[in-house]
Order: sequence, then C-alpha cells, then structure tokens
Amino acid sequence: MTALDLSSPVAVVGTGTMGQGIAQVALVAGHPVRLYDAAPGLARKAADTIGSRLDRLVEKERLTADERDAARARLTPVDELSGLAGCSLVVEAVVERLDVKQELFRALEDVVADDCLLATNTSSLSVTAIGGALRVPGRFVGLHFFNPAPLLPLVEVVSGFATDFGAATRAYETARAWGKTPVACADTPGFIVNRVARPFYAEAFAVYETQAADPATVDAVLRESGGFRMGAFELTDLIGQDVNEAVTHSVWQAFFQDVRFRPSLAQRRLVESGRLGRKTGRGWYDHREGAERPEPHTAEPAEPPAYVVAEGGLGPAAELLDLIREAGIEVREAEEDEGTRLVLPSGGQLVLADGQLSAEFGDVVHFDLALDYRRATRVALSHAAHTSAETVAQATGLFQALGKKVSVIGDVPGMIVARTVARIIDLAVEAVAQGVATEEDVDTAMRLGVNYPLGPFEWSRRLGRGWAGALLDEMHGVDPCGRYAPSLALHRYACATDQREDTP
Ligand SMILES: NC(=O)c1ccc[n+]([C@@H]2O[C@H](COP(=O)([O-])OP(=O)(O)OC[C@H]3O[C@@H](n4cnc5c(N)ncnc54)[C@H](O)[C@@H]3O)[C@@H](O)[C@H]2O)c1
Repeated sequence: MTALDLSSPVAVVGTGTMGQGIAQVALVAGHPVRLYDAAPGLARKAADTIGSRLDRLVEKERLTADERDAARARLTPVDELSGLAGCSLVVEAVVERLDVKQELFRALEDVVADDCLLATNTSSLSVTAIGGALRVPGRFVGLHFFNPAPLLPLVEVVSGFATDFGAATRAYETARAWGKTPVACADTPGFIVNRVARPFYAEAFAVYETQAADPATVDAVLRESGGFRMGAFELTDLIGQDVNEAVTHSVWQAFFQDVRFRPSLAQRRLVESGRLGRKTGRGWYDHREGAERPEPHTAEPAEPPAYVVAEGGLGPAAELLDLIREAGIEVREAEEDEGTRLVLPSGGQLVLADGQLSAEFGDVVHFDLALDYRRATRVALSHAAHTSAETVAQATGLFQALGKKVSVIGDVPGMIVARTVARIIDLAVEAVAQGVATEEDVDTAMRLGVNYPLGPFEWSRRLGRGWAGALLDEMHGVDPCGRYAPSLALHRYACATDQREDTP
C-alpha cells in the first residue's frame, strides 16, 4: 500500500491551531487541500493565515515564489461539508469531544466516497470510539500530529479496533511522504507519547508533594542531570496546566483509574486557582513581568574527601570512578567487590539511587541517576535525618570536586531522575508487551514527540534490563500504594536477560 497520490485532494476539517498546521503540511507536500470549519468565515481566515506562513517560508528561502503561488492556488476554503466531495483523505481537527467528532464523521460518510481515508487528530479520545459509528469503519485511522505540525516531525498513526491494515498503511506512508516520521500505534489511552510520558510529570509532582524538593530544584535536576530539555514544572507551565492535567486525567480514566496514572492533587489545586502557566502569567512559576525566577537549591562549597573506597563497579554510575580519579582523588578498591557503593573517609556510604530510603540505613547518602555523569552539571543527593553531617559534607565535596553543582533534596526513594526514568521504562515495556508499538517506534516517539534525550529502550539498554524493575521493586516496598509496582511485562523483560545470561 503506497502513499496517496499527490493529485488526490486532502480535506482538513476544523481550521484552528492543528488544522491549519496539518493543512500546511499537506499543501507544501503537493496536494490540493480543502478547508472546512463549522464557524462561518474561519476556513477562509485559515487559508489567509496559511498563505502568510507560505510567504514567510519564501522569505526564509525554504520555498520559491513559484512554489508558494502554486500551493496557494491548490488551497480552497469551502463553506459547506458537501464541498469535500471527491477528497481522498479527510483529516479532522475539531474540538476534542467524542459526540462532535462522531457526528461529523457520520455526516462526512454521506459526502465522500467509500474509499476515502478518514482520519482524526484526536490526542486523547479513543480512535475506536470515534470510528465505531461509521458505516465503513475500516478506513478510519488516527493521525496524531504534534503542535506545531509543520515543524514537529512525529506523527502517531493509530489503528483503532476496526481499522483495516491497508488504511493504516496508506496513512503511514502518506505521513512519510509528507516529510514526517510516522510511528505505528494501536489504539490505547494516550497512544505512545501521552501514555509513556505520564511519569515524567507525575513523579516530579510527587517529589514536590512530599516536600522533598521545590519546582526549581526538581527542574534543574531533570535538565542538568537527567538530560531532559526542560523540567516537568517549566514544561507544564509552557503546555498549560489545564491542558496537561486534562491529558493526565483522560489517560487515568481511560485506564479505569489505574493508580499508576493517577493525577496530581497539587496540579489540581494549581488549575483550580487559575494558575495555568505562561498563558495566565502564573503557574508553578511566576511569569509576570519583573518576577524573579527562583533558584534551584545548590549546596555551599564543601571539602572533597582525600580518597574514596569503591565497593564494586558502581553499575550505571561506573563512569564516576574515572571522573573521581581524573579529579585527583584516590580511588581505593575494596577487596570484596559485591557492592555498588563508595565508602567515604567518614565511614559513611554513597549509594546510587536504588529505590530505598536513606533512613533505612545507617550513615548513607544516596545520589541520583544522571544521563551522563561526565556531562551532567548538577547531581542530587539525599540523606536521612540521622546521616552524619561529615558524610553529607564529604559526599557534597566529592561531586563539587568533579565540577558538579549539588542539590540536596529530602529522603525520597528513587530520588528524581532515577524514579522518573524507571517508571518511563516500565510503561514503555508494558506498552510494547501489549502490542501498542514496537520498541523502536516507542523510542522514536519519545525522542521526537517529547524530546527525551534517549528512548526508554535505549536508556534501559544502558542501565541494564533489570535496573528499572529492581528500583521499582524497592520503591514498591517502601511505598506500596501500587503506583510503583513494576508491571508483569517489566518482570518478564528483566527475566529474559537473566535467562540469556544463564544460558551457556
Ligand atoms: N493543540 C494541540 O497542541 C493539539 C495537538 C495534537 C492534537 N490536538 C487535537 O487536535 C484537535 C483540534 O485541536 P486544536 O488545538 O487545533 O483546536 P482549536 O480550538 O484551535 O480548533 C478547533 C476548530 O474546530 C472547529 N470546529 C469545532 N466543531 C466543529 C465541527 N463540528 N465541524 C467543523 N469544525 C468544527 C472550531 O470552530 C475551531 O476552529 C483536537 O482533537 C485536539 O485534541 C491538539
């Protein structure tokens, strides 16, 4: 099954933010495009807006004046749905309401031919439910573009329960022919990106709710240690707290209130108070003119230890041993090498976040996972009330000697980056096990859709396949609300490695 022929007319219904973007993509790819919006005059206005955007592309020399003129000539606003007769693909981008979308598609079936591909750009509704009322449901797919559609490459091509393989393939190939990077996905709440990304927000909010760290510190750790482009608090201020919460809420409801997707009470209060983020001037942060941006917690300078004793290779933090040596600090190797920790001259231990509380141990400081310890500019530490001041100071001084800023946070299991990455990996593994998408497509979707520095499977390969499950097991032990219980799929995933390792 190949992409739609460029001579095939494409219709876009609903000419708001997304409709305009999708229409521009199809138009620049070479299709004749028709625009329809229920609000009188809006389709015409959208055509003018798209025209101005094409002008800007000519200014930026991404389009020639001739190409722009030809594209403009291919763009036709229509006043009635009947004006879409003869189209080969209709992409719907109307208001996010199941009843409105269902009614629209039923009406469209009376206008277009039975072989016209019908697509919805819904971000949170069930593709199966929207298409369920159709006379010919096999030609119905989800084509989930991201905002701004002309710039962002990812398109989730969603197959509903009744979608024909041929229709999904044609939609996939057409998105690719439009210069996009399509990923194939089954109809699941949140599709790939909005399902797998939930813990990125939820875990940051959970750390804040336990008072372990403020938004500025969590964001700084996610960026500077986790390698994420933005922290969860600043990103949701940009997206809009109401928009982000609505997605979380809808995914949670669609999973029959699975506790792992439970929304955040702190975010609920923020939305109730009208602090929706940048668009209202305040969200987690104050964005009003002249407002001061809070600084992340950063520890005062401390003396580095003269040496550390390495018990074991530090697992995913092994690179730290090289960095410590390069900083001129002696690394003594313990005779027994079973552990994965550093012992400081104070006698206290420095342990990579493993899902346990520091409070469960004697003199222990936990340090958070980093995407890349060499490039990280900040590392978070956590410790119990009874951890000795000397051990905390030596741990702080050690990371400072490696050129890192140190954020000391409260004693939360899994800290910030580690718990976030472990839960993202768990949801990704579960999604693949349930046939939602392939590992490769999940990685592509998370890198392109939400800019993650690594896809969950790439990350898991770096950390070791058993890492996320082991961390979540420990977290579940200290916080057995069910939210951290590793999925059956993650257990299987980790066991698959063990078996391979056991096989001679
Ligand atoms: N905005 C985003 O970031 C984003 C990203 C991905 C997907 N989506 C999805 O895309 C869809 C549209 O979102 P948007 O942000 O562009 O909305 P929008 O409010 O900017 O535009 C919606 C348009 O649809 C029109 N409309 C409403 N009912 C209609 C009907 N029955 N027939 C024809 N036109 C109708 C409205 O007049 C409006 O112009 C939603 O399903 C949304 O979930 C949005």
